Amino acid sequence: MRYNKTIANKLVCLFLSAIMAVVLTGCGRNGSFSAKEETSPEYVFTYAENQPEDYPTTQAAYRFAELVQEKTAGRIEILVQANGVLGDEKKVVEQLQYGGVDFTRVSISPLAQIIPKLNVLQMPYLYTGREHMWNVLNGKIGSDLMSSFDNTGMVPLSWYEAGSRNFYNFQREIKTLEDMKGLKFRVQDSELMVEMIQALGGSPITMAFTESYSALQKRVIDGAENNWPSYESANHYEVARYYTVDEHTRVPELQLISEATWKKLSEEDKKIITECALESAEFEKQLWAVREKASEQKVRDAGVQVTVLSDEEALRFQEAVKPLYEKFCGDYMDIVDAIIEAGK
Ligand code: GCU
Repeated sequence: MRYNKTIANKLVCLFLSAIMAVVLTGCGRNGSFSAKEETSPEYVFTYAENQPEDYPTTQAAYRFAELVQEKTAGRIEILVQANGVLGDEKKVVEQLQYGGVDFTRVSISPLAQIIPKLNVLQMPYLYTGREHMWNVLNGKIGSDLMSSFDNTGMVPLSWYEAGSRNFYNFQREIKTLEDMKGLKFRVQDSELMVEMIQALGGSPITMAFTESYSALQKRVIDGAENNWPSYESANHYEVARYYTVDEHTRVPELQLISEATWKKLSEEDKKIITECALESAEFEKQLWAVREKASEQKVRDAGVQVTVLSDEEALRFQEAVKPLYEKFCGDYMDIVDAIIEAGK
């Protein structure tokens, strides 16, 4: 009796294991059933992302990895490392250049330190709005700038959306240019951003994005500047309760692959990677639109004081940064003019 029960248990176990094996190998990530066995990957690549898991760019990175895995039937696996665990953007870009990291998505601010021409896309008060920026990125200017990556060790794949950036701090409401005076603002690793803060009367402090929350808490900085989703997701709004919507910059982001990695790939795989990057960018834009609203709502509900500059003050801010155009884009004024023209 006991013997029979053991055999019966074993049979049940075997049967269940067989079912599990079929389910595990046959079900794709999208839930569709396929009898095909997944190939073990030929390449396993790393993807660095400095935002948290639920952030639009990170979610789009996962989508990218999933698409690539599907379209290469599992030959290429991309492991997304979120939360900046592979280092801040500056370090990740360096690693990308020599192939220590295979993929990343970064803001173009640190990239413009290497390719100064990219500054034309992030000049203060440049765009009339999101549509203007996307017309530029999707047009000839955007594709020409993508070609300026030759000999940098990086290959750009697709532009990502990052909204517009605004100032915030814990000291006071910023309603006029005078209110900026003396405030210490954290900025990205970018000479342009450093000089922008100086031109507006503040004191810039360059620091990694992931370090700015604790710097705010310790009062090392008075504030920073960023888009609604970053202000919210990095919890900066808990400390810096004054947010001034001046939309001083729109800093697009890029998904990139290391040139060392790119060179290893077949022409067919390059095509797949490029297509998947573009598809993930479309996905990111959709997620962005939703998250931007949700983040704004969340910080407003939390009692953040949101200020919009009067037209008159907005003009004063714009005047104050005008000299930066000559200084940072003197050699590329034709491109800047074409960008401004595209917004008319
Ligand atoms: C945005 C961007 C990040 C960047 C950050 C910053 O949040 O998405 O990639 O690091 O700005 O201010 O440094």
